[in-house]
Amino acid sequence: MGHSAAVWDSRAAIEITKDWNGIDKVVLRNPRGASARVSLYGGQVTSWRNEQGEELLFTSSKAIFKPPKAVRGGIPICFPQFGNCGSLEQHGFARNKIWTIDENSPPLSPKDSQGKSFIDLLFKPSEEDLKCWPHSFEFRLRVSLAADGSLTLISRVRNVNGKPFSFSFAYHTYLSVSDISEVRIEGLETLDYLDNLCGKERFTEQGDAITFESEVDRVYLSAPNVVAVLDHERKRTYVIKKEGLPDVVVWNPWEKKSKAMADFGDDEYKQMLCVDGAAIAKPVTLKPGEEWTGRLELSAVPSTFCSENLDLQGRGF
Ligand code: BG6
Repeated sequence: MGHSAAVWDSRAAIEITKDWNGIDKVVLRNPRGASARVSLYGGQVTSWRNEQGEELLFTSSKAIFKPPKAVRGGIPICFPQFGNCGSLEQHGFARNKIWTIDENSPPLSPKDSQGKSFIDLLFKPSEEDLKCWPHSFEFRLRVSLAADGSLTLISRVRNVNGKPFSFSFAYHTYLSVSDISEVRIEGLETLDYLDNLCGKERFTEQGDAITFESEVDRVYLSAPNVVAVLDHERKRTYVIKKEGLPDVVVWNPWEKKSKAMADFGDDEYKQMLCVDGAAIAKPVTLKPGEEWTGRLELSAVPSTFCSENLDLQGRGF
């Protein structure tokens, strides 16, 4: 675990307490009052607030905070399988397991630590996990909050097995939005995508930015490293920067599917949008001893800032 330099009380930067379900949670704070909360259940980020205290991630009012179901909201980690393409449970088992705090995490580059509040978590498969997925790995997750309020997640998966293995992965990011019909995504225009609503058939995105008027469940392929989600009503733009994560999942369940989900309110689809940095279409393969890194940086900025300063071609990360 770590904290930013001495200009403010570092003891206040990280707090580890029990969540009401008895599982440890870590709260990260920055000097300007932004915060993030991470649960050791699933290594899941469950809250990210800006310096005004506004929640930037969606969590359902019907979310079930008890294992064995992942919490509906925040940023569940989908690993080692995305969705139902494989023999494992939907989105893999990592989001349903207890992670630990990693006191001896191998160092990351100084830019990933300096001036940030952060926590390092570790997930290693249990005997039970190895029965359904017989590949030994170490999954290290760093969650950090920068002085400007941006949230970074860095996943490192190491093969500590005698043989190669492959996996897919997603940061299943539930963004909080004012009203889904006022939201658009920029950066995915003209890309090919696999449509989960049409048996994963491949289509090409047409037209301008992506807007929403019905259920969407797509995997955009080879997406640029910067994507923006513009919330017109709130005049807020989420900037999503990614590395090592070629694909972007876009999901909104809309009305009918919302009603079918027990841990999701009937109308809550209006207030959320999942936009995930992911590695799905081409699973990652690791030889023995190899390590993969997948990095996601989220920031929320006033929409006026964006058009002038955003580099949506992905050069800026
Ligand atoms: C999305 C998938 O990422 O996650 C959807 O593309 C799925 O198909 C959704 O319905 C939610 O999954 P879950 O397992 O959290 O209900």
